[in-house]
Amino acid sequence: MAYYSPSRTLAFTWHRQPVPGLPPERTSTYGSGREALYALARYLGPTGTVLLPAWAPEGVFQPFQLAGWTIVFYPLDQAGAPKTAELVATLQERPVHLLVLIHYFGQRQATEKILNLLPPTTALLEDWAHTYPTATWPAPGGQHWALFSPNKLAGITDGAWLVGPTVLPLPAHPVARRKVGYVFWRLIYLVATSVGVRTALLRGFCLRVAGFTYRKSYQLLLRQTAQPGPVSGVGRWLVEHLPQQELVERRLEQATYYHAHLNQPRLRSLLGEVPTHHPLIGYPVWVADRAHFEAYLAQHQIRGQVFTDSWWFVPPAETEKFAESRVLLAHHFLLPINQNMDLTAVAAIVRVVNGYRGPAD
Ligand SMILES: Cc1ncc(COP(=O)(O)O)c(C=O)c1O
Repeated sequence: MAYYSPSRTLAFTWHRQPVPGLPPERTSTYGSGREALYALARYLGPTGTVLLPAWAPEGVFQPFQLAGWTIVFYPLDQAGAPKTAELVATLQERPVHLLVLIHYFGQRQATEKILNLLPPTTALLEDWAHTYPTATWPAPGGQHWALFSPNKLAGITDGAWLVGPTVLPLPAHPVARRKVGYVFWRLIYLVATSVGVRTALLRGFCLRVAGFTYRKSYQLLLRQTAQPGPVSGVGRWLVEHLPQQELVERRLEQATYYHAHLNQPRLRSLLGEVPTHHPLIGYPVWVADRAHFEAYLAQHQIRGQVFTDSWWFVPPAETEKFAESRVLLAHHFLLPINQNMDLTAVAAIVRVVNGYRGPAD
């Protein structure tokens, strides 16, 4: 039986290509997104105040926490866009040095609108971790920054790009042993997922290995945050030889296909429009009973993604203020988008999704 999943797998071409859209004179390359954010916090000041969306991953929260910054949250609506009236009020309450805007799922947020709200002393960091740069990607200007974490979409071990007004100096740490360990476990993870998606006979075993190596590598990644280092040689090679055009084109065409063919009344698309430039990490939908929907898909060998573990740092006393962000956390689901699938696979997923009956039917 065919198996559909968002897991990244190994793929390379023999000729080297630069990453499109990134201005080399303004791009700093780190091992991971969280290392880049920690380095940015340190560069901007010994301490400061950062505004984060209420639904924020550990990889964004932890760097500012470790750098000793004050973290204040702002609310999102149920599609992941900042609630501007509340954001303005929060900006007026105190001086803010940096605001993080996450382009959730790879969907472009209204950056211009947010820039217009910011006082001149507040910098913007656009978090593009859920997409991949393209030739038409709008690099930030002025004192603003942008982050990519390409291993979320591509089968590479490590690497992240921070684009800003300048290149940041890389601190001269010796390469930590945990960094070598991280790359090692990630490589095994990628081999396991690559074999697992292709070979039904070994799938169960490969998925167990992938789960184990993913957890191992993530523990080491967490411990690396406050020691920002460069991308590994393996990571650099994999990025330079990545079939980037295929990654972008397949992801765009799959999102378009889902958008045109899903007709399941129990789901609501979380996309304002179909993206034409930014590939998506997955196709985001809102579903009332996510556990029921996931179990149904699993019967058909379809695995999606949810962002729940380590994505909520709002203090319990403030949770009520962020009710809509909490709804998004509880009800979003990402249907698989992957450059290792073709449109026939996406059509098969769509047929299964359109045939879904909710728990009450
Ligand atoms: C939106 C977003 N930004 C940044 C990060 C951090 O990137 P990395 O995992 O490369 O440290 C993550 C990680 O989950 C993320 O989801």
